Amino acid sequence: MPSMDQFTEVAGESGPPLIGHTLQFVRDTTGLIARMHQQHGANFRIRMFGQPIFVVGEPDSVRTVLLDRDKNFSSQWGWDHAIGELFSRGLMLRDFEQHRTHRQIMQMAFRADALRTYTGMMNPLIERGIEVWGSDKEFRFYPAIKQLTLDLAADVFMGVPLGPEADKVNQAFVDSVQASIAVIKKELPGSSYRRGMNGRRHLEQFFGNRVEEKRAGNGKDMFSEFCRATSDDGERFSDRDIVDHMIFLLMAAHDTTTSSLSSLVYHLALDQEWQDRLREEAMTLDSDHLRYDEKDRLSLMDRAFKESLRLHPPVPFIARRALRPLQLGGVDLPAGTSVTVCSLVTHNLEEHWSDPQRFDPGRFSPERAEDRSHSHAYFPFGGGAHTCIGMHFAYLQVKAVMLQILRRYRFRLAPGHRVTMIPVPIPRPKEGLALQLEEIS
Ligand code: HEM
Repeated sequence: MPSMDQFTEVAGESGPPLIGHTLQFVRDTTGLIARMHQQHGANFRIRMFGQPIFVVGEPDSVRTVLLDRDKNFSSQWGWDHAIGELFSRGLMLRDFEQHRTHRQIMQMAFRADALRTYTGMMNPLIERGIEVWGSDKEFRFYPAIKQLTLDLAADVFMGVPLGPEADKVNQAFVDSVQASIAVIKKELPGSSYRRGMNGRRHLEQFFGNRVEEKRAGNGKDMFSEFCRATSDDGERFSDRDIVDHMIFLLMAAHDTTTSSLSSLVYHLALDQEWQDRLREEAMTLDSDHLRYDEKDRLSLMDRAFKESLRLHPPVPFIARRALRPLQLGGVDLPAGTSVTVCSLVTHNLEEHWSDPQRFDPGRFSPERAEDRSHSHAYFPFGGGAHTCIGMHFAYLQVKAVMLQILRRYRFRLAPGHRVTMIPVPIPRPKEGLALQLEEIS
């Protein structure tokens, strides 16, 4: 691992002795990133978790890292420090040829006819989930949507009604994701890291116990698809691969979708005009239940979703590590450098976005197309070989949920409720997003 001395030429700071920027990062990520960007430009150096990190927000450099034409950057080695043990052997923790083979097998579970089936499975569960919201006087969106996405994951991803296991599985996810930002990654008694690893062990058992049954069955859920999937060369996943991929996938899918739905609803609760426009569009569809073939008719919803992902990217940092000495953005980096592609910087660049702090879905209209100002001005789902494999599923799920919410409820922030967004490890509203819901008759 390179030492800090090798970086002093690079614009940026080392932060306070020993801890560097770690505490500032955990307490006020957005503030730290905005300040560093302002003082040092779109690419800069910080120091966290005991190592120097080169943060990359300038779009040309983002493209170089994400497309990685020369195989200079390891995703596995990049993510290993934060989540290597908690989400070991997940797709993002594999590189190059091995990654390509695993991704090809996994892709089978995301083909169009599978997505069509998942959409059909989700609709009735969404209806059941949201119908009780209206009678809750103290309604908080974040815990409610987290529960709903978990219920959807149980059915669509695992094909099992979770029942009494639901709370334990939910807690296991929460603990594992939260542990990914633990400063000390050791299983000390009572530590968040230990809780996270206990969560992982619980999930291993949960999935491991069900592989055989899934492989033998003809289920339509994602877990069954994984168990039966083969690559073009006839390769299959082993039992262990399936368990590892399921744990990673659920983590990757569950919290990101929960987060993006929360930030979308938050902005629509503040902006009644956009909420009305989206509702009007939602009412043009024949049913509360989204049909796969109708997904492209919700173009305003598409723009609003994109805008909330721009402002609150669920994966604000994409970790990589340089495999060899290289030049990036005019800077020489030694082999082993931690490089983090940061959409929090790029998604706010004034050269590419007009009034970047503002919620303005219209910027994604074909006439304005601010996201097209550069191939890498906008990348909430990453790019290159590791581009989010669940992107189309995420769009479908968000549209299916929002269609039903908009057709059933008008919503605004509860009186006096102030919202603070916590950006890491995955953005969420601190106080749970208290809403006032009004049923549409
Ligand atoms: C709004 C929702 C989501 C966002 C913003 C998001 C974002 C991302 C990003 C930025 C990456 C790339 C990370 C990297 O390059 O290191 C990624 C990878 C991944 N995502 Fe998503 N994701 C979302 C939802 C989902 C869903 C719903 C699934 C599964 C159904 C999923 C599964 C994955 C997997 C398996 C990878 C690893 C891909 C690879 O390494 O080849 N994600 N996601």
